[in-house]
Amino acid sequence: MMNHSQPQGADYNYTVVRQFALTTVLWGIVGMSVGVLIAAQLIWPQLNFDTPWLTYSRLRPLHTNAVIFAFGTSALFATSYYIVQRTCQTKLFAPRLAAFTFWGWQAVILSAVITLPLGITSGKEYAELEWPIDILITLVWVSYGAVFFGTIVKRTTSHIYVANWFFGAFIITVAVLHIVNSMAVPVSMWKSYSMYSGAVDAMVQWWYGHNAVGFLLTAGFLGMMYYFVPKQAGRPVYSYRLSIVHFWALIALYIWAGPHHLHYTALPDWTQSLGMAMSLILFAPSWGGMINGIMTLSGAWHKLRTDPILRFLVVSLSFYGMSTFEGPMMAIKTVNALSHYTDWTIGHVHSGALGWVAMVSIGSLYHLIPVLFGHGRMYSTKLINVHFWLATIGTVLYIVSMWISGVMQGLMWRAVNADGTLTYSFVESIEASYPFYFVRFLGGCFFLTGMFIMAFNVIKTVRAKESMPALAEA
Ligand code: HEM
Ligand code: HEM
Repeated sequence: MMNHSQPQGADYNYTVVRQFALTTVLWGIVGMSVGVLIAAQLIWPQLNFDTPWLTYSRLRPLHTNAVIFAFGTSALFATSYYIVQRTCQTKLFAPRLAAFTFWGWQAVILSAVITLPLGITSGKEYAELEWPIDILITLVWVSYGAVFFGTIVKRTTSHIYVANWFFGAFIITVAVLHIVNSMAVPVSMWKSYSMYSGAVDAMVQWWYGHNAVGFLLTAGFLGMMYYFVPKQAGRPVYSYRLSIVHFWALIALYIWAGPHHLHYTALPDWTQSLGMAMSLILFAPSWGGMINGIMTLSGAWHKLRTDPILRFLVVSLSFYGMSTFEGPMMAIKTVNALSHYTDWTIGHVHSGALGWVAMVSIGSLYHLIPVLFGHGRMYSTKLINVHFWLATIGTVLYIVSMWISGVMQGLMWRAVNADGTLTYSFVESIEASYPFYFVRFLGGCFFLTGMFIMAFNVIKTVRAKESMPALAEA
């Protein structure tokens, strides 16, 4: 129902949304360039130029932090601030705090860009940043929660759209994960030691690590999916009931699955089995979400022929489905005995990261940017199409090469001769991996080229003086 106090387009607070949307593209290029560089270093190690801050060990965490926390999280900030305003039909709560989240987050990113190449690290994967930066992250995140939930509280609509449920769960859980896992004893300005020790430290770390996947790389992006897929398809969500069931099932299950990262370790065996069982059950709500997204296209399938934005969104859902089928399989102990430590894990990561996270963000941004800058559409639909193919081919080259090299490595490491000695030395398995590393590098170059094309298209759209009319529907 129309509400008289409901803001019109111009009344929403788009400033912070625009800032985060544009920095998403920028940080995507930075993070993926570092990804391409480290992919190249694995083939040509001399590319570190004997410089400490260009070594693989320092650039790898820079890559993961840049793509997850600079690129992915900026996309989440942009879309959540946009969606919460539109679906609650009210302006953002506390605009100054919202501005603080933007500048504060950029400060976090810059600190990461400086400290990680210097070798300053807590040593915990995806939580490498040292304690002063951790405190800044906490401040920004709590402010983010205040802005988001404040906006929900002052909404002028009666119900809370399902996308906001996913964003809300993502914001609260990431706050809890970050605060608990980062508890540390500082010994100097740039060095601290974890408050936990031994197996407990490992358990807390992977409770954090897996739920960063579950709530940041999954729940947040599902929020994005639940708004932009129906919008772009021009259809309502296939099943609102399914979206609620899969929301509760997903958040209830994810939190238990962390121990699948620690199979065959000093962790008590029952926790490993629990992690495996929960991961297997997790398959159901994951596919529930995917099916709900894809079925939203019922009656609008023909649009895929002409709309590359919709193609980005639908293909991202397919990769989401693939990686959430693969994940539960890899959580089975006997499968993990083969896959762990190999490139199979890297393939799985990037089918989620490139195929799902990056593609759903890119599709959503192509929908969002023209709206934010008052244009009917992006500058060039043809270039979106070129980007779509580069991204799809790049992702496929990346993950297929890693699957093959991963399974090959696992099989080579476990091969034994009749007398019980190992058939292959470790170095032989590395040598055999080179061709696949090259294909992965090519895939990365494809994906990165697509990002540069996107940047060009975005700049042209932002700069366009006249409003470009929306294309007539085919
Ligand atoms: C051009 C695109 C990309 C390229 C070329 C690339 C390349 C790489 C390489 C070479 C590694 C190290 C693999 C190893 O240690 O064996 C890596 C790790 C990783 N990348 Fe990427 N990457 C790209 C995009 C992304 C994106 C968009 C994300 C997330 C949204 C991402 C998330 C990760 C994660 C989480 C890891 C660590 C995996 C693990 O420890 O198991 N990457 N990437
Ligand atoms: C039902 C869903 C999923 C399950 C059960 C699952 C399960 C797993 C398993 C078993 C591993 C290997 C652990 C190891 O051997 O060390 C893994 C690694 C990983 N997965 Fe998934 N996965 C799921 C979905 C996803 C998605 C959608 C993404 C990304 C967007 C993702 C990102 C990762 C990352 C980043 C790692 C590497 C962690 C590391 O060792 O650094 N996963 N996952």
